[in-house]
Amino acid sequence: MPATSVFPHGSHSVLLHAANTDPSLQELIADLKKGADLARAIRGVLAVAEKPLPESATDSNIIRAIMSLMWNFEINGKTSRKLNAALVNRRKAQHAYRSAHRDFLASEKITRYWRNSADEVLYANVTTYSLPKLKKPYPPRGIWACESQEINDLWEDHIRFGPQPDKRHKRYPPMVVDERNLSLIIPHDESCIVLDPKTNEIVLIVIRNFVATRSVLEWMSEVISVACDTRKCIRMEDTGSIVQIGFSAGARSQPNFHWVRNLLKKFPKDDIEKYTKDQCAVFAFFWNLLVHQLPSEIISDFYDFMNKNLLPVMNPDWVDFTKKKGSYALPVGDQIHTFHDVELAPPQAVMAHNYSRAMHTESQPHKYSCSLTAKRNGSATDGGHFYIGAYGIKVCASANSMIAWQPQHLHGTSLPNFSPSDPNPWYIHQGISFVSSPRIAGVWKAYMNKIPAGQVISDAAAKEAAEELWGEHSKLDERF
Ligand SMILES: [Fe+2]
Repeated sequence: MPATSVFPHGSHSVLLHAANTDPSLQELIADLKKGADLARAIRGVLAVAEKPLPESATDSNIIRAIMSLMWNFEINGKTSRKLNAALVNRRKAQHAYRSAHRDFLASEKITRYWRNSADEVLYANVTTYSLPKLKKPYPPRGIWACESQEINDLWEDHIRFGPQPDKRHKRYPPMVVDERNLSLIIPHDESCIVLDPKTNEIVLIVIRNFVATRSVLEWMSEVISVACDTRKCIRMEDTGSIVQIGFSAGARSQPNFHWVRNLLKKFPKDDIEKYTKDQCAVFAFFWNLLVHQLPSEIISDFYDFMNKNLLPVMNPDWVDFTKKKGSYALPVGDQIHTFHDVELAPPQAVMAHNYSRAMHTESQPHKYSCSLTAKRNGSATDGGHFYIGAYGIKVCASANSMIAWQPQHLHGTSLPNFSPSDPNPWYIHQGISFVSSPRIAGVWKAYMNKIPAGQVISDAAAKEAAEELWGEHSKLDERF
């Protein structure tokens, strides 16, 4: 839609008169942060003048059009002194925003330079370890790793005798990890790459201080809290909560492609839209950090998965399947920064709060998984550390750490240092991860080919998601 075409015939003089004389409208014109209020005020002015806007006009259409019109009047000397001052203030705010936006992109390394040299820069700046796969994995499959006898004792009764939400799963015993049996312990502040000497494949990448802007990391943590409070957990037998975000492939018995339906109760529509937008923005931002900092070996793995299967990206406006790019917005300082025409995240992911899992493996449709710990308030002895048993590696937990690993390798997270009976533990460990269903590509293909899909019952969404993401693909108790 051309910039000024949203305004009906004969409305320009009405808008000029209002902007020249109405101080509240001038205030809105000067304030870059009040776009929605400005659009509402313009709609009001035109409604009073009985020249209503077409229903198709969006807020951004209206703002673009009114500013284009105002600047046109300014050039032609038709604006009042006060309106001129408002337009000058708006331009100053725009310059400041653009400058802050460029600084943010540079500090987060979301620039062409970082993307083009990600492999080179990463290998040059972090320690590279070469570590052979263990013949006998440690920690072994099917145990809950603990860093101390105290944590073991806190959880043992609960694990052995507590209620079982899903009786199909066996009970897995806790075990205190003997660090002498590990091959590598990665301290909480070390970034590194681990390679397999036989295959030369990347086994693990750890990057500390992954998000440069502290306030954005804190905001991500708030978004995770809301997600874990409002969506159904897909792993009731594990500690804490883990919830699915993005698209779902439905239950195995009733495959159906749809946006995840896992809300705990009915929420106001505006709240749901905001939660969904924020959750997708967290993953879009994380994905953009990954594609600009991780080696091509890992990013290509995700691209291959998405391109081979023509999968849609994680976009709340999910009816438009053709767009691989889109927009997302983050609060940076006291402003909302919007990122236009950028890559959006892969279609499925999880957010987790205080989540730990016994040592296990997973089959996923891509070789690598990437996670980010957004928040952790414990010390080294408080658990929540990540183990790759296949190589005898312990990654000490710390906030703002990115971990890329192969979920087919035996892995798990140690039990946290709080009592399972404590409803409000002092310990907080939150993170996000890209986790995809092995069935998503097939269900998507069926959806695209208009093959009749089963009816999905939203109340069963948590069970669906659990089966979909891990179900039979997650193995705790088989021989490695
Ligand atoms: Fe896992």
